[in-house]
This record gives sequence, C-alpha cells and structure tokens, in this order.
Amino acid sequence: MVKSAPGEVGFRPMELSDLSRIEVIENHSFSAPWPRQAFYNELVFNQFAHYTVVTVDGIVAGYCGFWLILDEAHITNIAIHPDYRGTGLGEATLLYVMDLARKLGADKMTLEVRVSNTVAQSLYDKLGFTRAGLRKEYYTDNKEDAIIMWVTLNEHAERNAHTGN
Ligand SMILES: CC(C)(COP(=O)(O)OP(=O)(O)OC[C@H]1O[C@@H](n2cnc3c(N)ncnc32)[C@H](O)[C@@H]1OP(=O)(O)O)[C@@H](O)C(=O)NCCC(=O)NCCS
Repeated sequence: MVKSAPGEVGFRPMELSDLSRIEVIENHSFSAPWPRQAFYNELVFNQFAHYTVVTVDGIVAGYCGFWLILDEAHITNIAIHPDYRGTGLGEATLLYVMDLARKLGADKMTLEVRVSNTVAQSLYDKLGFTRAGLRKEYYTDNKEDAIIMWVTLNEHAERNAHTGN
C-alpha cells in the first residue's frame, strides 16, 4: 500500500499523548505552525474534528485532520515528518482520511493550499482534487493566496475501485 515506507504502517485517531510529537512535526512543516494548544482544543472541545495519525513501527510519522460539517469534510492540516517524506505516507494518509470521511457521511472534501506549495498540490492533483478558486491573501504570515480545492468522495471511491488503488 505504501510504496517505500521504512516499516509497518498504521493509522489511528490522534490522542492527547501524541501532542509533543505533533508539535515537533508541525514546527518542521509549516511557516505558521499551530500551537500545541490548538491541537488540544481540537481534540477536547471540537465535536466536528477528526484527527488521524499515521505510524511507522509505532512511531507517529504524520497526521491529518478534518472538520465534518454536514456532508462536507474540510481538511485542516496534513503533515509528514521530514524524515519520512517521499515514501508514500502523505498519499496513504490522505487516502485513509478520505475513506474515513466518506464512511462518516461526507460526500465531498475541501482544503486550502498555498500557491507556492507545489509539492502538496501535486499530491492533491494525484488524488483527484480540482481547483475551485482562490482566497486572496489568505495566509496572514506572508499574505500568500490560497488555492481552494475540492474532491467528490464517492467519485473518488469509484475511481479507485476501477483502478485498483
Ligand atoms: C505534502 C506532504 C504531506 C506530502 O507527504 P509525502 O509523504 O512526502 O508525500 P508522498 O511520498 O506520499 O507523495 C505523494 C505525492 O505527493 C507529491 N510529492 C511528494 N513529494 C514531492 C516532491 N518532493 N516534489 C513534487 N511532488 C511531490 C507527488 O505527487 C507524490 O506522488 P508520486 O510519488 O507518484 O510522484 C509533505 O510534503 C509535508 O508534510 N509537507 C509539509 C506540510 C504541508 O505542506 N502540508 C500541506 C499543507 S496544504
């Protein structure tokens, strides 16, 4: 399933005991990282939030979160620790989360991505997301625009069933 991950890959819900590790990955991954408290609030107080971690041999290698609002899943963040990037974990994690969102009742999924983040855009293109517009100066740290992307989860599931992915 994961092209070259260096160990046994698993997925599970994020727990409060993961937060130190999440903080490390977040700080390695974003120019404006969420503080630990933001993840705490998501896990403890946000009934719409669903956070998944991906593990390699039991070590948290990355995570992805979304808010489920009616039939829409809004991705809040996805990150893989730099030591584990380029091994298929980002793709496997997003596929897992897309499937989870669909099982929880979402028909479509959306996210924002920096115009400069061509690596992430390449991943989203690969998994069938399409561009739906631009949020001007969405990122407050450098006033960068965000590309809004959407995917229809049922279509996605059907497409993968046909291709065997
Ligand atoms: C984006 C991110 C999650 C991708 O995770 P990853 O585990 O490295 O990605 P994968 O190995 O699963 O690669 C999946 C696809 O992503 C794209 N991709 C990954 N690394 C890439 C690179 N260095 N250059 C271009 N495309 C790349 C490719 O489309 C790749 O598919 P391919 O292998 O068939 O070419 C990871 O780079 C990351 O954590 N980045 C920092 C945080 C971030 O930008 N998050 C997204 C915010 S919107």
